[in-house]
Amino acid sequence: MSENSPRGSWTPEMVEKGGYPHFMLKEIHEQPKVLKNALSLRTEVCHQAAGILNDSAQVYITAAGTSNHAGLAARYMFTKLSAVRAQNIISSEFPQLTGELLDENDVVLAISQSGETADTINAVKHAKRQGVKVVSLTNVIDSTMSKLSDYTIYTYAGPEYGLAATKTFLVQVACLSLLSLELALMRGSLSSKEVNKLRDGLMKTPLIVDMTIKKQDRVVRDIAYRYANKSSFLFLGCGISTATAMEGALKLKETAYLHAEAYPAGESRHGPIALIEPGFPVFIIAPPDENYDKLVKNLKEIKAHKAKIISVVQENDSKVRGLSDHSISIPETETIFSPIPYVIPLQLFAYFVAFKRGYNPDKPRYLVKAITEP
Ligand code: F6R
Repeated sequence: MSENSPRGSWTPEMVEKGGYPHFMLKEIHEQPKVLKNALSLRTEVCHQAAGILNDSAQVYITAAGTSNHAGLAARYMFTKLSAVRAQNIISSEFPQLTGELLDENDVVLAISQSGETADTINAVKHAKRQGVKVVSLTNVIDSTMSKLSDYTIYTYAGPEYGLAATKTFLVQVACLSLLSLELALMRGSLSSKEVNKLRDGLMKTPLIVDMTIKKQDRVVRDIAYRYANKSSFLFLGCGISTATAMEGALKLKETAYLHAEAYPAGESRHGPIALIEPGFPVFIIAPPDENYDKLVKNLKEIKAHKAKIISVVQENDSKVRGLSDHSISIPETETIFSPIPYVIPLQLFAYFVAFKRGYNPDKPRYLVKAITEP
């Protein structure tokens, strides 16, 4: 361990943190275990929730912050795997954007780690007033959100002490992946053979996350220390990786107080590319999915303006890696579930940049764990 490593010295408080200097790092490292636990969700639970969603004309996914990013990933999975009509509406805007136009054939899927976020509770109440059924996904049994809902799926991730949500994202995406597969079976959008193959891939993600943490922790730390003095970052992804990019940018904002924006890569040419000047750091989230070639095209445009490219790629990737200044490798995974392992380096990056800048990533300024004030 080097002198300036966040793991370089032990204090009595660190014992409580299992030897880690911060809860955030502890919780990042706990993710293989909690992910495995979340993936053991009972089929019956998924089946019940999927039944409610399957009967709807339109699913509205509502949440805030990290939970909203898990919800964005869910929408991609619902579209691609389950042929379910869904749209995301951030919970603080839900009443404004849906007005009195909800229908009792609609279903709201509300996502909240705490189950107490005022904006999400408000969205749920707004939906309930119009006779809409609510399925919720939360970590807290008997939370306000679960009490208001017609059906609740629990993530069973244990308490999250770090203020920045890390394991929250992984377990939410895991449960939503299982839900998408159950819906795909129910609706016949995929054959049972296809679903079994995807499920097998999903069940391997705890191992992939574990390998990623072990192999890439040092790599990410070195990149983070190198870029910790930059003031602005761009995160680009395409398709489901847009959700990953958004989560990476949020982590960096809240823990390291740096300006970070996330965009679908295709949108970069519609304005954000003007930000690029030599040395500007851009994260590219590039699993080898159906969007890869499109992403490479956008990456080349960004690169032409001499941005510094930090990519998150599959182990055997050569194209994006060849265009990058730094690459972080992820073992092969089912690409539709890529947010689960691909977010790991982004969480670590935010943690190490915050540490290097002298901030406590467990207690970001101005933030509380659950924003319960309306
Ligand atoms: C991000 C973070 C917040 C929460 C958001 C929603 O790291 O912690 O953005 O994700 O406030 O909280 P829950 O999921 O409890 O509704």
